[in-house]
Amino acid sequence: MRNAMITGWGKCVPPAVLSNADLETLTDTNDEWITTRTGIKERRISHVEVSDLSAVAAQHALAAAGLTATDLDLILLATCTADRAVPSAATMVQAKIGATNAAAMDVNAACSGFLFALSVADQMIRAGGAQRVLVIGAEKLSFFLDFTNRSTCVLFGDGAGAVVLEASDESGGLLAFELGSDGTAGDLLCITGSGTEGNPMRTLPPGILMEGPDVFRRAVTAMGDASTRVLAKAGLALDEVDLLIPHQANVRIIDATARRLSLDPARVFVNIASYGNTSAATIPIALTEAVEEGRIRPGANIVFAAFGGGFTWAAAVFRWGSRTTPITTSAAQLPPSTATALELLAPNIALHGKGI
Ligand code: COA
Repeated sequence: MRNAMITGWGKCVPPAVLSNADLETLTDTNDEWITTRTGIKERRISHVEVSDLSAVAAQHALAAAGLTATDLDLILLATCTADRAVPSAATMVQAKIGATNAAAMDVNAACSGFLFALSVADQMIRAGGAQRVLVIGAEKLSFFLDFTNRSTCVLFGDGAGAVVLEASDESGGLLAFELGSDGTAGDLLCITGSGTEGNPMRTLPPGILMEGPDVFRRAVTAMGDASTRVLAKAGLALDEVDLLIPHQANVRIIDATARRLSLDPARVFVNIASYGNTSAATIPIALTEAVEEGRIRPGANIVFAAFGGGFTWAAAVFRWGSRTTPITTSAAQLPPSTATALELLAPNIALHGKGI
């Protein structure tokens, strides 16, 4: 039986930290509201682009797998904040890491993007179309932050995570997955002014629009129900789940999803306090930290669940292999920067103004 196992993992978060106290200087908010309503304490603001964050995360994942970039035959980069529309950020990563034998493309399913890309990679490997696939989730959502919209500007941050998926005879891998979309409700969560529509003079400043409470309810229902269905597909009982790694959008969404599943909070991975919502990057960053913190034992059953713009949702059950330590490590890092988060956000403020 040909399976696809995760053999490498890595992350890259930029150094500049935007705290809740910083946000108090930009918009009408406060640490107490942000902490209690979202669970977020700080997020990272990037001085580089998505392909740069991705390339560093990718090199850590390749080292953990004991591979070099030329071993890859496919790169899938889940993002909705690519450096450019063309070329894809995935091909930029290919060039940056020297993955000369790999085809590369971006996948846009917003916050569900990493699980969409992981499922495609798994199916490509099982069908024999690829042997070694690099799957990345990376975002630079700070580009779209509008501090006159306090209900969205406190939520998002930047970062990247990556895994290497390899063909293997080892048992496990992606036991079941479920992907879904509902384009009829797309306007409830969107980035305006980011594409060709409705902006003929190219003067509308881009920004994130979201009907927060409606998105909240839909996220809890979709992530909970998709997780239940995917566990049934995999033939696993709830008490066989070692760890739920959910998309990190709001700690109250994560708690409500765990309650809907009747899952003990001790078996849920949460790191939203440090990074906020990094969209397609939350799950691979969380997975990398879970492995590094020893939260994943050999053979562990992991449930992933995500919900995002589109709408899109995804859940997957993944059985980890026998190795939980990296084969080698990489010294890859971002170009140094001493710019503060507030300095990096000056162009946003020039475009939209402040919210206070
Ligand atoms: N600081 C202080 N007050 C704020 C605020 C902020 N940053 N943002 C909103 N508020 C206020 C609102 O103006 C409102 O005030 P009012 O009662 O005087 O009108 C009050 O807080 C409640 O607003 P509401 O939008 O109902 O809050 P909420 O509890 O639903 O939390 C979100 C808002 C955005 C945090 C929450 O709805 C959410 O997380 N939604 C889903 C996010 C998500 O998952 N997005 C991506 C999907 S991947």
